[in-house]
Amino acid sequence: MKKNLVVLSGAGISAESGVRTFRDSNGLWENHRVEDVASPEGFERNPQLVVDFYNERRRQLNAVQPNDAHRLLAELEQDFNVRIITQNVDDLHERAGSSNVLHLHGELKKVRSVLPGSEPIEWNLDLNVGDTDSQGIQLRPHIVWFGEEVPEMAAAEKIVELADMFLVIGTSLQVYPAAGLLHNIPGGCELFVIDPHLKLNITNADNFYRTTATEGMRLLLQGLRKISN
Ligand code: OAD
Repeated sequence: MKKNLVVLSGAGISAESGVRTFRDSNGLWENHRVEDVASPEGFERNPQLVVDFYNERRRQLNAVQPNDAHRLLAELEQDFNVRIITQNVDDLHERAGSSNVLHLHGELKKVRSVLPGSEPIEWNLDLNVGDTDSQGIQLRPHIVWFGEEVPEMAAAEKIVELADMFLVIGTSLQVYPAAGLLHNIPGGCELFVIDPHLKLNITNADNFYRTTATEGMRLLLQGLRKISN
């Protein structure tokens, strides 16, 4: 039977595709006030600024490609039950071929009405103030903003609890509740970390690859093949 490999990914896995991270130098949050572009209050104050911010991200996403780290993770489905929990709002895991991806913080290519609990709608173009759903309700980006609930947390916790192996890749682990998933890892689960400059010292990692996502994934695969041969 295939082992369950659970992955928690963050912006760093998409960095080599040309997508900016949030907290590295020249990261997205260095050039923007989070409360302006990633909070419900910011959207109320200046919806145009917020939709423009995500329109730019969406356009950029349409211009980039998955990298080898995304692709190698997809390949691992041949040998493992791979479940990816991503904080990323891009679709690069899916485009690389991963079939089991849970987006904790929403998706750039979806929007929903501003009514609580509304269903996401696929959206590949720019979103404008004045764009509404079929009931005439204003649409907003399908993004979890600061101060909002993370509706997929319970599903993510369930996935983590079944992990035989757990990989943390390209996340600063600064944002909760996502970072708290590490506390749900079951005893006996193998823990791998890939990140070139993660400040947090994860002392119980079985292997810590202090390198980029693509290089780290190559090294991880070599290690896994040695174990299985
Ligand atoms: P961060 O920007 O906080 O962290 C990015 C991580 O990627 C850092 O630990 C870097 O060291 C690492 N990194 C940089 N380049 C890398 C590379 N080439 N290969 C591998 N790793 C690399 O991004 P997240 O942890 O994803 O939320 O941020 C979490 C959440 O904060 C995001 O989902 C977003 C943000 O606010 C929302 O917008 C709701």
